[in-house]
Amino acid sequence: MRILITGGAGCLGSNLVERYLDQGHKVLVIDNFATGNREVVPDGIDGLTVMEGTVADETLVGRAFGGFRPTHVIHSAAAYKDPDNWDEDTATNVAGTVNLIEAAKRHDVARFVNFQTALCYGPPVEVPIPVTHPCWPVTSYGISKLAGEQYVALSGLPFVSLRLASVIGPRLAIGAIPTFYSRLKAGKPCFCTSAMRDFLDIEDFHSLMEAVMADGSATGVYNAGPGVGHSIKDVFDAVAAYLDVKLDTAVEMRPVGDDDISEVVLDASATEAVFGWKAHVSFEQSVEKMLRWYDAHGVSAIFSHLKPPAPAD
Ligand SMILES: NC(=O)c1ccc[n+]([C@@H]2O[C@H](COP(=O)([O-])OP(=O)(O)OC[C@H]3O[C@@H](n4cnc5c(N)ncnc54)[C@H](O)[C@@H]3O)[C@@H](O)[C@H]2O)c1
Repeated sequence: MRILITGGAGCLGSNLVERYLDQGHKVLVIDNFATGNREVVPDGIDGLTVMEGTVADETLVGRAFGGFRPTHVIHSAAAYKDPDNWDEDTATNVAGTVNLIEAAKRHDVARFVNFQTALCYGPPVEVPIPVTHPCWPVTSYGISKLAGEQYVALSGLPFVSLRLASVIGPRLAIGAIPTFYSRLKAGKPCFCTSAMRDFLDIEDFHSLMEAVMADGSATGVYNAGPGVGHSIKDVFDAVAAYLDVKLDTAVEMRPVGDDDISEVVLDASATEAVFGWKAHVSFEQSVEKMLRWYDAHGVSAIFSHLKPPAPAD
């Protein structure tokens, strides 16, 4: 395959880049390094080409497709790091996605895989959330990602859009796990919310991607998660236990922020039925692997699409 991976310097993108290069495929990365690291896609790697720039630049996207002639596109680039920067979110997540779709149509790609956030559902009325649940996102990230996904679905391309649970894997730089790891190691105070999340291990993500990228496999929109909820407090307890940190007083609890969703747990039964896939790695195993990875490599940066919630009254 000749695979164009947008956001290939980010967490999911870079894990896929490594995997596809190992399998002997050719990879082109487009990344503006907004939240990704240049060092994880260095020059001089056989089979890998990197273009620095934004997917919102139609000319750059056109050049990328013209020069590389991808057979497959994995659209992993997304803007989310500043919840108030709606211009950047719409430029990357909507206009950028449209640029990629138009180029992919001109080049007749065999498959267009889009990564979607489970926050596209907004506050759920049913948990675990089925893929047929209505979408009413409440953040700029969720709104713009939903628009991007809807353009993908409208495009007529052979597409798959995976609505992902919180993936745990090398270079994870968003959310509670790197936050608690760095703060507890530095002896800094932490706070938790009661928000529940569904956590998907990177190995389970890879096995789903293998099924999704296979020739002739199904198209459409699918949930991807084990469907098991764990609270942010569970994450805190797991990290504190791993680091052997014992607090004198209980960790501060804060109400779930207005821009956050209190329960994101996905019903992936349709995905399991269509792709013959199921998540196998437990939350405990996955968090421990992640923390061992941080021990070896450190936490590079931490990003969030949320504003910090206010302290409890
Ligand atoms: N990791 C998860 O748990 C998770 C969950 C749900 C959805 N997703 C989706 O998966 C995708 C990858 O997420 P991630 O966790 O790897 O995030 P990430 O921040 O690590 O990776 C995103 C990459 O996109 C790049 N990027 C941002 N704007 C760009 C632009 N305009 N042009 C080119 N590159 C740009 C960033 O520099 C970064 O390298 C995103 O689409 C995200 O919405 C991830």
